[in-house]
Amino acid sequence: MSVTQPPSSLLNNDRPVLVTGAAGFLGSNMVDRLLLDGKKVIGMDSYQTGAPSNLRHLQDNASFTMIQHNIQNPIPTLPPLQAIYHLACPASPPQYQKDPVDTLDTAYQGSRNLLTLAQQHGCRILLSSTSEVYGSPKEHPQPESYWGHVNPFGPRACYDEGKRAAEALAWAYQQPPRNVDVRIARIFNTYGPRLAPGDGRVVSSFVKTALDGAPLVITGDGSATRSFQYVDDCIRGFVALMEVESVPGPINIGNDVEISLTELAGVVGRVVQQVTGQNISEIEYRARPIDDPPMRRPDLTLAKRTLGWAPVVDLEEGLLKTVQWQLDERAWKKTVDAK
Ligand SMILES: NC(=O)c1ccc[n+]([C@@H]2O[C@H](COP(=O)([O-])OP(=O)(O)OC[C@H]3O[C@@H](n4cnc5c(N)ncnc54)[C@H](O)[C@@H]3O)[C@@H](O)[C@H]2O)c1
Repeated sequence: MSVTQPPSSLLNNDRPVLVTGAAGFLGSNMVDRLLLDGKKVIGMDSYQTGAPSNLRHLQDNASFTMIQHNIQNPIPTLPPLQAIYHLACPASPPQYQKDPVDTLDTAYQGSRNLLTLAQQHGCRILLSSTSEVYGSPKEHPQPESYWGHVNPFGPRACYDEGKRAAEALAWAYQQPPRNVDVRIARIFNTYGPRLAPGDGRVVSSFVKTALDGAPLVITGDGSATRSFQYVDDCIRGFVALMEVESVPGPINIGNDVEISLTELAGVVGRVVQQVTGQNISEIEYRARPIDDPPMRRPDLTLAKRTLGWAPVVDLEEGLLKTVQWQLDERAWKKTVDAK
């Protein structure tokens, strides 16, 4: 998959950029970054897992328009687009496992609708893929050349295989006669402000339960490792991936500092203590979910070489901002409920 010609539409700043999944964690942060860069932005979301409140600060922003739409259905007519950031898909296991067929439909049919839109508008599109395409990896860390080790017949398959199918679609759309300019970000665990506290992802769950004064729940014995990327680094990576002239194929966007879940619980505890003065209560260990990968770490060699990009925010700094955001959000909800 090699692309050398930047589409002229990418240079046309008057055209809006479409962000799908705009009400979600990454989507709402993406919208903010594009508006900050002086772009006009159209957001699209079904609000399946995202919340309109993630965009409440943009209510009066004339450069931003929001459309409620399920991307599994044909995309409504839009003005000529500059670029598409396609981020719509449930991403947390409890969310994407609620209705696995619906998740597969979003990953495949939704992506197909957006790729067709990119073809019609002659614009570049970023597809949000995932480190889950590597499954339970036999190669560590994971370079883009690793084909993965995914169980196609289990509770995670709707997401993992859905994303793999979306990558295959992207490759197919890049070929003649369609010639769509697709950029694939294989995103590793990302956290930060607007990661929904209750949606089951480990960082937001740890922060939420620590702030509640409840025990932190670790699934498994705590030795499983992950690499956690702060959201600003991820969004910077997306922009770099969209602006570079050519890409050799999918690119890992993540942080390559790897820590165990027990270590993560310790860091979250320290940061919450630092911000609120409250100590975390004990850790509770529960059974490891089926097909939960024992380790994950991106090989970032290709990202650094191709994009000149690397993550810069360390875990404590990112967690401080995440804890502060959850506290601000609790305060905001209290004022809304009091009205
Ligand atoms: N955050 C991460 O750590 C991470 C890691 C790997 C991949 N990703 C990918 O990045 C993208 C964004 O993830 P996120 O963390 O922001 O998740 P999120 O759940 O916070 O946001 C996803 C958004 O997509 C919307 N959506 C879901 N299905 C839709 C549909 N059919 N039509 C329209 N909108 C729909 C949701 O309502 C939500 O606002 C996803 O594609 C996800 O697979 C995220």
